[in-house]
Amino acid sequence: MTILTIRTVGDPVLRTVSEPITVFDDDLRRLVADMLETMYDVGGVGLAGPQVGLNKQIFTFGNIDGREGHIINPVLEVGDEPQEGGEGCLSVPGQKSDTPRMAWARVTGVDMYGQPLVLEGEGLFARMLQHETDHLHGKLFIDRLVGEDRKRVMRAIRAAEFDATAQKTQAERAARVSGAFGAGSSFGSFGK
Ligand code: NI
Repeated sequence: MTILTIRTVGDPVLRTVSEPITVFDDDLRRLVADMLETMYDVGGVGLAGPQVGLNKQIFTFGNIDGREGHIINPVLEVGDEPQEGGEGCLSVPGQKSDTPRMAWARVTGVDMYGQPLVLEGEGLFARMLQHETDHLHGKLFIDRLVGEDRKRVMRAIRAAEFDATAQKTQAERAARVSGAFGAGSSFGSFGK
């Protein structure tokens, strides 16, 4: 099995609507195993196709109400009652926030053999079903936030992106400067 690379916010694959899966072969079953292994490796309770760079309608889950599994081509239904609770996402590292969700949810789809599959639950399980189905529609939990929670998280994400860009620019400048003046030059820090 293989640990897959998890994509993070800013990657367009997370903002693309996923395609239904039409071929139920050994490659698909290997993907389910790899996604479960990847999810456990990083301590997640859910992982959707786009998060591993695949715009395919699939997600896995585990360590949640003692349940583990996967579903393909899920269609979501939710109840009328809201629930309160916190949420995070492997693709939005370091950020957690109260996120409005419905208390009950059900997804109807198929398993990796193409057999009908229904998953249903309340509380955290319902939250996971809504979070993972959102991924397949190009949505992240940060899109569901309101008020101060939204401001705080968006600010943190912008700051993280700024830091990443600044670090990349510095690394590029350092490479150019050392190229121009020779490796080990005392001008290596110029322009920082
Ligand atoms: Ni997520």
